Formats: sequence, C-alpha cells, structure tokens
Amino acid sequence: VNWTPDEKHYITSLWAKVNVEECGGEALARLLIVYPWTQRFFSSFGNLSSAGAILHNAKVLAHGKKVLTSFGDAVKNLDHIKQTFAQLSELHCEKLHVDPENFKLLGNILIIVLATHFPKEFTPACQAAWQKLVSAVAHALALGYH
Ligand code: HEM
Repeated sequence: VNWTPDEKHYITSLWAKVNVEECGGEALARLLIVYPWTQRFFSSFGNLSSAGAILHNAKVLAHGKKVLTSFGDAVKNLDHIKQTFAQLSELHCEKLHVDPENFKLLGNILIIVLATHFPKEFTPACQAAWQKLVSAVAHALALGYH
C-alpha cells in the first residue's frame, strides 16, 4: 500500500486520540450485535444473549481492547502491514478458523465507531484514509489463509 503524506497524517493524528479500551470494546461488541453469527467464535466468552449483555460483557470488552491494540500495530507500521500481521493471519486461519470476510466487517464497524467518537475530525478525507487502512489490514490478515 502506498500512502500520501496527507493519508498518513489523517491516520496517525486520529489514532493519537483513540482510547483503545473504549473504542476496541465498543467495536467488538457492535460486531457481535450487528452480525450475530460472529458470536460463534466467542462461545467461551459467556453471556452474549442481548445487546446489553454484550456491551457489558467484560471478556468481550477486554478482547476488543486486545484486538484494537493489535490493530494499532498497523498504524505504527503503515509501510509494512503485511509483515506485521503475518503471524496473526496464520493464527486466525489455522487455529481459530475465522472466515476472513469477518475482518472486513470488523473494519467497517471500526469506521463507524471512530465516526461516532470523533464527529469533528472524521471528515470524508479522513474517512477515506481510514477505509484504506482497514482494507489493508483485512487483506493482510487474509494472506496466511490457504
Ligand atoms: C484472537 C487480533 C479480527 C476472532 C486475537 C488476538 C489478536 C487478534 C491480537 C489474540 C491472539 C493471541 O492470543 O495470541 C485481531 C485483529 C483483527 C481481528 C487485529 C482485525 C482487525 C477478528 C475477527 C474475529 C476474530 C473479525 C471473528 C469474528 C478471534 C478469536 C480469537 C482472536 C476467536 C481468540 C479469542 C480467545 O479465545 O482468546 N485476534 N483479530 N478476530 N480473534 Fe482476532
């Protein structure tokens, strides 16, 4: 992926404001609520029986933080995204059996979470840079599938 200086600016300046605990937890919770079939990967996480239960499920929130923290490695390694996610790609394929389509769903959920948390900063140009980033991460995470 090639980034313009503007794109890098939109990504790193917004990321500097992101609270990974808050946004990560909300993003994973929204994924499980909006696309309920994704709950099957998280059957060990306990009560996922309603939107309220999911939004207050400590395991969901903790895992969301873990995922968004890991997503942050892309922000720090914009020029090496494939390498950055090579190991996680294998893990999601071989051990977790997560359909890579789900990486795209989570990426778009993250966009919505960012838009609601940062309405002023999340201009169309900023969104364009972030859409490119979530696509690049989803692509990188899918590369280890075979
Ligand atoms: C585990 C990152 C998307 C399902 C993990 C872990 C990380 C991670 C860092 C922990 C790995 C470890 O313990 O060594 C990411 C990133 C994603 C992503 C960066 C996309 C931006 C998804 C999606 C799903 C998923 C979309 C399913 C819908 C899982 C599951 C685990 C896991 C089931 C194991 C959870 C557990 O039992 O502890 N992921 N993930 N991931 N991920 Fe992902």
